[in-house]
Amino acid sequence: MSEIAKLELEGTIYEFPIIEGTENEKAIDISKLRDTTGYVTLDTGYKNTGATKSAITFLDGEKGILHYRGYSIEQLAENATFIEVAYLLIYGSLPTQLQLDTFTNNITKHTLVHEDMKQFFEAYPAKAHPMGVLASMTCSLSTFYPESLDPNRSPEAKDLTMLRLLAKLPTLAAWSYKNAMRHPFMYPKNKYDYCSNFLHMMFAMPTEEYKVNPVVVKALNKLLILHADHEQNCSTSTVRMVGSSQANLYACIAAGISALWGPLHGGANQAVIEMLEQIHNDGGDVDKWVLKAKDKEDPFRLMGFGHRVYKNFDPRATIIKKACDDVLEQLGINDPMLDIAKKLEKVALEDEYFKSRNLYPNVDFYSGIIYRALGIPTEMFTVMFAIGRLPGWIAQWKEMTENNEPIGRPRQIYTGATPREYVDIAKR
Ligand code: ACO
Repeated sequence: MSEIAKLELEGTIYEFPIIEGTENEKAIDISKLRDTTGYVTLDTGYKNTGATKSAITFLDGEKGILHYRGYSIEQLAENATFIEVAYLLIYGSLPTQLQLDTFTNNITKHTLVHEDMKQFFEAYPAKAHPMGVLASMTCSLSTFYPESLDPNRSPEAKDLTMLRLLAKLPTLAAWSYKNAMRHPFMYPKNKYDYCSNFLHMMFAMPTEEYKVNPVVVKALNKLLILHADHEQNCSTSTVRMVGSSQANLYACIAAGISALWGPLHGGANQAVIEMLEQIHNDGGDVDKWVLKAKDKEDPFRLMGFGHRVYKNFDPRATIIKKACDDVLEQLGINDPMLDIAKKLEKVALEDEYFKSRNLYPNVDFYSGIIYRALGIPTEMFTVMFAIGRLPGWIAQWKEMTENNEPIGRPRQIYTGATPREYVDIAKR
C-alpha cells in the first residue's frame, strides 16, 4: 500500500501521496495542494522543494555520493572521457565504440562558428568579462540557426542543436579569451580531441607549432567530467525554467551561463583564487581570514566553502584536491596558493563555526589552482565550468521537454500594500 502524508488545516485533514525515488528518497506530492486546500507552500531558495522528477544525476549530500546515470563520479573521473560522459548524460547510457565515434565526429564537424560572429567579438572591449561574452555569443547562435526556434521540430533537428552547442561552446570560449588578449583567433582543428582542441584554440599562435601536453589534457578532461552535471541547482534549474517556456535551447543555455556566473555558484572558482591571492598578499595569516569569515558584520565569506546539499564532504572536491597535487607535481609547479588553500582548509575544518554549520570545501575550492597550473587565466575559470556543465544542462533540458513538463511558474505570498485610492501628484 502506498504511503500517505496527512495535513490538518482549519480542522480538515487532507491526504497527499508520498512518492519514492529509485534511491529511496521520499517526497510529499503536493501538486493538488492548492486545488484541494487553497493553500500554497513557502520555501524561499527551494531548500525543501523538488522541482521535477529526474533520471539523470543522483546525489546524497549527507553521504557525499554523486552518480551520473547510476555511475559513480569517482569511476567516471578515473576512466571516462568528457565526451563519453556527455553522451551518457544526454542519452542515458554509456556509448558503444560506434556510437562514440559517430558522436565525436558529429561534434568535430561543427566546431567552426559562422565567420560573421567574429565581428561581434571585435565590438567588445578588451576588458569584457569572458562570461558576459560567452552568454551573449551563445544566445547569438540562435540567430544563425532560426529553425531552432521551433519547439516542435524533429528529434533529429533537436540533436543537431545539441551537437552544435557542444561543438561551438569551446570555440566561443577560447575566442573570448583571444579577443581579450587582442590575439589572433585560432580556428579549431579536426585532428584534435575535444580537450586538446580547446587548448589549441586558447594557447596556440599562428606563428608557432603548438604542442599539446598530455598531462594538461588529462587534467582538463577530469575537471570537465566533475562539472558535467549536478542535478537541480541555480543554473540547471534556470535552464529548465527558461526551457519550460519553449524558448530555444541556445537561449536556455545562455541563461544557464548567466546564472552560473554569480560568485555564490560557478563564479566561486574565480572568487577562490582572488581570495587566496588576497590572503597571500596580506602576509598569509589564515587565522585572520577565518575570523573575518565568521564575523557576521563582515560580508567576507570563505569562498569555495559550504554547499546547499553537501553536508559532509563534496566528492568532487576530494577528487580535485588529489588531482591538484598530482598535476602540480607532474608539471613541476610550486604554487603558494595551494599551500594557503590547504592551511585554510585545515584551520576551517577544525573550527567550531564551520563544523557546526557543516561547511566543507566544495568543488570550486581547489579547481582554480589546477586551472592556474594549466595556464588558464583567472577570469576564464567560470567559463571552464560552463564548458563542463554544458552536457548536463542539455540533458536536463532534453529530459524536461521530452517529459512535456508544464511552464515553470511559482506562486508567492504577497506582502505589499492592500488596495488604496490613487492620489493626484499635487497631493502626495
Ligand atoms: N563562509 C562563512 N560562512 C558561511 C559560508 C562561507 N563560505 N557558507 C555558509 N556560511 C554560513 C552562513 O553565514 C550561515 O550561517 P548562520 O546559520 O549563522 O546564518 C550558514 O553557514 C548557512 O549558510 P547559508 O548561506 O544559509 O547556506 P546556503 O545553503 O543558502 O548557501 C552557499 C550555500 C551559497 C554555497 C554558501 O555556503 C556560500 O556562500 N559559500 C561560498 C560561495 C561558494 O563557494 N559557492 C560555490 C558553491 S558550489 C557551486 O555552486 C558550484
